[in-house]
Amino acid sequence: MKNFLLVGNGAREHAIADAVCRNKDVKLFAYMSAKNPGIAALCEKSNGEFTIGDIHSANAVVEWASSKNISLAFPSPDAVLEAGVTDALERAGIKCAAPVREAARVEWDKAYARELMRDFGIEGCPRFGIFEKEEEAEKFVRSLKGNVVVKPVGLTGGKGVQVAGVHLKDEEAVISYAKEVLNRKIGGKAQVVLEEKLEGEEFTLQAFSDGENLCFMPLVQDHKLAYVGDKGPNTGGMGSYSQEDGLLPFVSKEQCEKAKKIMLKVIAAFSKKTGLKYRGVLYGQFMLTKKGPMVIEFNARFGDPEAMNVLSLLKSDLYGIFEKMQSGELKDDAVFEKKASVCKYLVPEGYPIKSVTDQPLKIDAQKIQKSGAKMYYASVYEKEGVIYTQSSRSIGVMGFGKTIFEAEKIAEEACGAITGKVWHREDIGTRELVEKRIAHIKRLLS
Ligand code: AMP
Ligand code: GLY
Repeated sequence: MKNFLLVGNGAREHAIADAVCRNKDVKLFAYMSAKNPGIAALCEKSNGEFTIGDIHSANAVVEWASSKNISLAFPSPDAVLEAGVTDALERAGIKCAAPVREAARVEWDKAYARELMRDFGIEGCPRFGIFEKEEEAEKFVRSLKGNVVVKPVGLTGGKGVQVAGVHLKDEEAVISYAKEVLNRKIGGKAQVVLEEKLEGEEFTLQAFSDGENLCFMPLVQDHKLAYVGDKGPNTGGMGSYSQEDGLLPFVSKEQCEKAKKIMLKVIAAFSKKTGLKYRGVLYGQFMLTKKGPMVIEFNARFGDPEAMNVLSLLKSDLYGIFEKMQSGELKDDAVFEKKASVCKYLVPEGYPIKSVTDQPLKIDAQKIQKSGAKMYYASVYEKEGVIYTQSSRSIGVMGFGKTIFEAEKIAEEACGAITGKVWHREDIGTRELVEKRIAHIKRLLS
């Protein structure tokens, strides 16, 4: 048997657990901060175990895992990687398929990621500056006439970045938020990354990395803004889609290849700089612009929701891929079903401002299964057989089909099979929204 340890408990981790457990030799062991009912059920079904504890405490995770004869571990969320859980597990002799703390720095230190790109001359890096002094930050903003994105340096759960014209109405608002980041040490440090605002369409490219080779997954487009029509505040991501050929309706093969080259250069640069290998999932967030794909950021993990799109379609054995990532023997091992996927996140009423919590959800699981849809639990809990909401995203609902639009209809129908005080973005994956994206890129590139 293969005793696999997963650290984390969101919908992304539910999708990882689900994919790993398709290998019938795997016993799932999960260390969670709260009981994800989907992951817990997979632990039971595979004759594994789970426990609830502080996933950010490397010592606590190691202590629990040490007696479980773990053959491979996958610490998943960003803050867990930053806390050095991978490092601690490896020190205790438990092999991991995730980045050590220093490698995950490409995510938890936005200044580091930009400097790596600049120092190694990697294409796709926007104009940027790293500032500790208010006056210098202000000078940079004025030099770009306020057309700037303000980024706290550290992790903020995807909610600290603010963009001119979206969250910040004018040059003064940009300057004021940059100063706020410095004064309130948003992101954990009195430092701010300011960069030129790029214009284009965003896409996600995820890859398995063994430190030298990357094995790429289908492209995905996430939807970060809360409301229909890309309005409202930032969220962790409201939903996402992928296309049957692994590209996106507005991204060509050639543009995708450029993004892949950038990611290969990043892991090579990381090795040159540190002497270490980047092992784990590398997530590239790109903006397709007039100049080609530009890098918005790197993450050291799967995306959430993007993991649900790609892992639902993964035909290869995920446990086997993780093993090869760890041992440095990764080739072109990942095969995906040639289907489109659409994920819609059901979120609590009031999310992301002030969620209504502890609301029961009625789930017609039969109807969901019959339509070929799938669901992954996120921030919910189970009491006496009933699922209740918490303050974060509740359930990721997935539809699949020959096209994005077919998959969208299935996802939408499945959302209707879950009732309670939750809502979702109905426009994700619809023809109208996808065509808007295509027209945007056509206009930009013409
Ligand atoms: P991040 O946390 O870095 O992914 O940023 C959150 C969101 O801010 C991204 O998904 C983009 O929509 C936006 N963003 C970040 N950097 C830029 C940039 N340089 N230009 C335009 N938008 C950006
Ligand atoms: N979907 C965005 C992220 O996982 O960071």
